[in-house]
Amino acid sequence: MTAITISASILSADFANLTDQIRQAESAGVDWIHVDVMDGAFVPNITMGPFIVETIHRITRLPLDVHLMIENPDHHIEAFAQAGASNLTVHIENTPNIHRTLTEIENLGCHPCIALNPGTPANRLEAIIPYVDMVLVMTVNPGFSGQKHIPEMVAKVIQVKRMLADQNRLARIEVDGGITAANLPVLVDAGANTIVSATSVFKYPGGIAAGVQALRSSVS
Ligand code: DX5
Ligand code: ZN
Repeated sequence: MTAITISASILSADFANLTDQIRQAESAGVDWIHVDVMDGAFVPNITMGPFIVETIHRITRLPLDVHLMIENPDHHIEAFAQAGASNLTVHIENTPNIHRTLTEIENLGCHPCIALNPGTPANRLEAIIPYVDMVLVMTVNPGFSGQKHIPEMVAKVIQVKRMLADQNRLARIEVDGGITAANLPVLVDAGANTIVSATSVFKYPGGIAAGVQALRSSVS
């Protein structure tokens, strides 16, 4: 049995019943709640900000895995840390002083994490591997839930795993986008140990508990 961490993305939750949806995800045994922050500039969609993170923090004790898909993330990390984020993930593509940003995230008491879009090569990570607790390999282009995963990202997960091993780092490898029970085993074999899912949790036809169970049993 492979132990995976499941980070349930509320992007596909029913926001009219958010508390109930999060309770159901908790009972189903998800490990983290994933919050997709989008600004309509770095990605085409606009979603939620620190206020929502703070609200969710009051609803659940699960760690909040906050994925920042925004321009100028440095301007906002303190607000997200204060709102209760556990992980703060910034994108390498738009964070020019990445070492400083990751150090600041750590100083704010959060886990510093770095995300790579599908078009960004793994070798961009080389110099910052010592400063990250998690690498997020995007398996879709960020912006929306419900997209189809890009199978070529399996090779990037393998590369990232090798790069972490070369530097003796135990950082997590997270995958995000289009994850289903059908494509998860290959990603886990490649080295992913932390899984983000919106659709396969909150929009699973048999309900949230069945969705989480399907993901877990696909790799057990
Ligand atoms: C995409 C977001 C994802 C998204 C995943 O930009 O980063 O976290 O919510 O949704 P699914 O699991 O439906 O692909
Ligand atoms: Zn995400």
